Order: sequence, then C-alpha cells, then structure tokens
Amino acid sequence: MRRVTLNISVIGTGYLGATHAACMAELGFDVIGVDVDPEKIESLSRGELPFHEPGLPELIRKHVDSGRLRFTTDMSEVGAWGDVHFIAVGTPQVKGGTGADLTYVDAATTSLVRSITKSGALIVGKSTVPVGTAARLYDLVQEQKNPGVELSLAWNPEFLREGFAVEDTLRPDRLVVGTRTEADEAKLREVYAEALGRDTPWVSTDFETAELVKVAANAFLATKISFINAFAEVTETVGGDITTLADAIGFDDRIGRKFLNAGVGFGGGCLPKDIRALQTRVAELGLDHSMKFLDEIDQINLRRRKKAVARAFELLDQDVVGKKIAVLGITFKPLSDDVRDAPGLDVAARLFNAGADVHVYDPEGNKNAAKRYPRLGYVDSLTEAVKDAELVVLTTEWNEFKALTPADLQDLVAAKRFVDARNVLPAAQWEAAGWTFAQLGRKFNG
Ligand code: UDX
Repeated sequence: MRRVTLNISVIGTGYLGATHAACMAELGFDVIGVDVDPEKIESLSRGELPFHEPGLPELIRKHVDSGRLRFTTDMSEVGAWGDVHFIAVGTPQVKGGTGADLTYVDAATTSLVRSITKSGALIVGKSTVPVGTAARLYDLVQEQKNPGVELSLAWNPEFLREGFAVEDTLRPDRLVVGTRTEADEAKLREVYAEALGRDTPWVSTDFETAELVKVAANAFLATKISFINAFAEVTETVGGDITTLADAIGFDDRIGRKFLNAGVGFGGGCLPKDIRALQTRVAELGLDHSMKFLDEIDQINLRRRKKAVARAFELLDQDVVGKKIAVLGITFKPLSDDVRDAPGLDVAARLFNAGADVHVYDPEGNKNAAKRYPRLGYVDSLTEAVKDAELVVLTTEWNEFKALTPADLQDLVAAKRFVDARNVLPAAQWEAAGWTFAQLGRKFNG
C-alpha cells in the first residue's frame, strides 16, 4: 500500500465535508472532521447522517472503526496536527437576496487560521464561492496567521452530485486546483495521487479560474435543462414530442443527450442558487449584461412548476378545491432526501394553497418536506397516496414511480387522471388503458 504521509482536516461536515472526509480516509489518510455543531459531530461519530446519501454512512462507519477518521468540535485539535485543511462549509443564498452568503466560509477560515500552529500547512477551499473570494481569503490568511507559521491557500472546487457523492469524490471526472505556488500544487497532487494514477485530468490554474469553473459548469447544466424546457413550451403549443426532439439533437455528440430531459425543471441546493449568485457577482463587477441570460434560464425553470400546476387544473376542469391529488416525489431528484428548492414540493404546495386535498408520498423526502410545509398530507406509501385520488401527479422520477403501470393504479384511484411532470412514463400505454394522461412538452388535448 501507498505510504500515506499527510494529516487531513475537513472543516464543515455537511454534505460536502462529510463525504470528503470519509473519502479521504478511504484513500488512506488520517482525517479529522471539524464542525461547530456538537450534535452533528456526535451522530457522525456513530456513523449516522442527517441526510440520505447511498454508501456514505457505511464508509464513515468503516473509517471511524478503523481509527482513520474522527470528528470534533475543537478546532485546536487540527491546528497543531493537520498538513492539509479543507474548507467545506456551505455558501447558501443570502436571506432576502440573490448573492452567496460567505459568513460561514469567512468564520471557518478565520477560526482555522488562528488555531494553526503547524508551519507549512495548506488551506484548501472547496466551497462554491463568488469569484474573487480565494484571493481575498489568501490575504486574510497571511494577515491573521500565527507568528512564525508559514501558511498558504489553494482552491479546489467540488463537482459531486447528490446520490453519487462517494463515487464522484473517489473517482472524479476531473480535478481542478487553483494555486499560487508549485509547492501547493505538489501537495495537492499528493492528496489526489490515487486519482492521478488513473489518469484523471488535472487542471492546474489560478484562483479565479478555479472558482469560475464550478459556477460555469453549473450554469451550463442549468442552461441545458432550461434550453430543452423552452422547446417544451413550444411543443406544448404546436404539437410535437419533446423527448424525441431531445433524443434527436442529443445524437449530435457536440450537443450530447445528457441533461436534456424536459419536465418540471431543476432544483436542489446548487443549480438554482449558483446561477443566481453568479449573476449577482458579475453585476457587482459591473458586467451586468454578460450573465443576463441566466435570469431567463431561471425564469424558464420556474415557469415549468407553474405549468405542472396548470396541467393539474386542466385535468380537473379548473376546479381543484377539495379534490384529492396524489403528488409522487417531492425531493429535487431521486436518490436524495433533499427538498431544497425542489420543483415537486413547490407544485404540491401550490396545489394545496389552491385548496386541493394534497397527499404526498416520497421514498426519502417526506420528513424534510414536512419541516418546510407541515400542512401538506404526508403518507408512507404510494398506495396510500393514490387511494381514491382524483388525480395523480408524478414530480420526481424515483424508480418506484417509473415502474408504474396503469394496472397498478386503476383499482385504487377515484379517477384515471395522471400528470407525468417528468416525462418518464409511456403515454400511449396509459392513454390506451383509458387514462387522461398529460406530460410536460406534449400538447394536451383534454
Ligand atoms: C449539481 C451538479 O450536477 C454537480 O456537478 C454540482 O457539484 C452540484 O450541483 P446536484 O444538485 O446533485 O448536482 O443535481 P443534478 O444531478 O445536477 O440535478 C439538478 C437538477 O436538475 C435536478 O432537480 C434534476 O431533476 C434536474 N434535471 C437534471 C432535469 O430537470 N433534467 C435533466 O435532464 C437533468
């Protein structure tokens, strides 16, 4: 086995940090995860996670048991010990605004720098930040470091997808590092030696490019989704089939088929907030026009939620009051329990606010959704949700829902009406079985 020399700390043990810490331990490093929340630290130490991520609890338990991974609330434990300190705290959207809230990144960096007594350590930012943050933090580190301690800073954005977080961290499709010295880059090459041994592309660049790569990637993905959804608005009006259109343009490998699934649009903790933060940042820089198109991307996306609700109204002859509607799937995507900015939850809440008797079922998301919208009716099974429903609306494409056939539901529902807002079911089959069946991106003839 490779000789492992570096002690690694990860500051912030949320989604990104907990995954990164566990994966660093899996690579053979000794790792300490630090968080200000004692409850989180206690449950992580038992291998329990406050969110759903396949494979991660097992990996954490494995390395807590092997002694390679520990969690603490005490920053001073890592200050005298760590060689590489990853900052993995959140950068949420500011309350009442569209920019990124850097309070946690700043607080974590300041507290870390003050605690570092081991000279030659490297601080590595992983959080998604507005361009210019790394340069500012570099200066902050130099100003605030303890006397006699040499410290540097690098930026290394993370591209992990929820549901595939472990896989994406252990086997990334590329590694991007922004550094100011060759020694810092060399240290990061040591951290990622295993991936580099597999010829993973290594992009070594400056701070600004490293910061921008992350938001550019997310802006591109959001644009792809809203691009196909803009065409869905057209096919809904003139006729045509949006899925066939996506397949056909996707065969052109300059375009590619991925992220061209039309439906109720994107959500989650990254894409929506990152495109808003990017626009805000470039506007601050005086470049109001260069990212203006992202506003349209956001608007197209938000219109999809309204369209799903409009379809529900159409199928119920514009009268939803008191009607039982089953909403299937309220996480922002399958294999996650994350309901942040989730299109399905938004659709369910809009139907509820319009007076419908909404019954929500999601394999993982009910608990988190109930914290945000306690008044919706949450049930523990698909059967309970659809029983006596006047309308079924599919808003997240969990396998359990993709496998549904008309025969599975016909004896349970009160009326055979279905809105497939993710375009994952075979419309012709449902229509042939007597269902009034609507999708997004297809003309609905009632
Ligand atoms: C995203 C990026 O993919 C990841 O690289 C980055 O690090 C964090 O943000 P994630 O938020 O986990 O990851 O979700 P992703 O798989 O990208 O899906 C985002 C949203 O787009 C979901 O709501 C999904 O349902 C939607 N989507 C995706 C579509 O509507 N259509 C598609 O074709 C693909």
